[in-house]
Amino acid sequence: MLIAGNWKLNKTLKETKDFFKEFNKLVSKTQNMILVCPSFPCIPAAREYALKKIFIGAQNVFFEEKGEFTGEVSVSQLKSFCDFIVLGHSDRRNKFSESNELINKKVKAAMKSNFNVILCVGETLNERNSSKTNSVLEEQLTKSLSGVALKKLFIAYEPVWAIGTGKNASKEDIIQAHSFIKQTLTKLFGEKGKKIQILYGGSVKPENAKEILSLPNVDGVLVGGASLDPKKFAEIANHKK
Ligand code: PGA
Repeated sequence: MLIAGNWKLNKTLKETKDFFKEFNKLVSKTQNMILVCPSFPCIPAAREYALKKIFIGAQNVFFEEKGEFTGEVSVSQLKSFCDFIVLGHSDRRNKFSESNELINKKVKAAMKSNFNVILCVGETLNERNSSKTNSVLEEQLTKSLSGVALKKLFIAYEPVWAIGTGKNASKEDIIQAHSFIKQTLTKLFGEKGKKIQILYGGSVKPENAKEILSLPNVDGVLVGGASLDPKKFAEIANHKK
């Protein structure tokens, strides 16, 4: 299982160091894959202070390699520090207007450089209430993965209404969405698509992680708020399926 933490715009350098001082001790025995995604300036420190078995990832990347792209970061700049890149998070889609087409370019650039990519997909509350969940998921997957030569890909199902709200999706919603995502990936990539691991994200915390991780087609979790606290994140990371 992959237990991934998305720190979003949180933690200074000192806070990053303090986090790993405590977190490393708490997860030294876990068999799960653990990933922490700090914001860009804290990535090198995270790589330095985290246990070697903890993977470090970025929360975004730009698709061009270099040039006049003020404020952007390229895949090769991340390569020395990171193993994973999260793309298409709903913060990027909704607060920074990232389209499926833009995300697709980023996925291709990251895959070309052999990164593990976690592609986030998920519907808003309005879309769910108007029975558009499946069509939104299908469109996000199809467009974001168009023309992609499959390498190391994970999908994170993150219903927008469950992110940062404290209200996780129900068992039934998660089972339904993950099964639909698996079907769509199989349509897109055949047998290989069936093997792509699918994470759930949206208000995962120590109290609900066990149940969520036990559901069919749930191969891990993407944790926001609870990943900022070393004790809470370790409790999630130490769960056994
Ligand atoms: P949350 O965030 O766990 O705070 O709901 C999840 C995410 O955005 O990845």
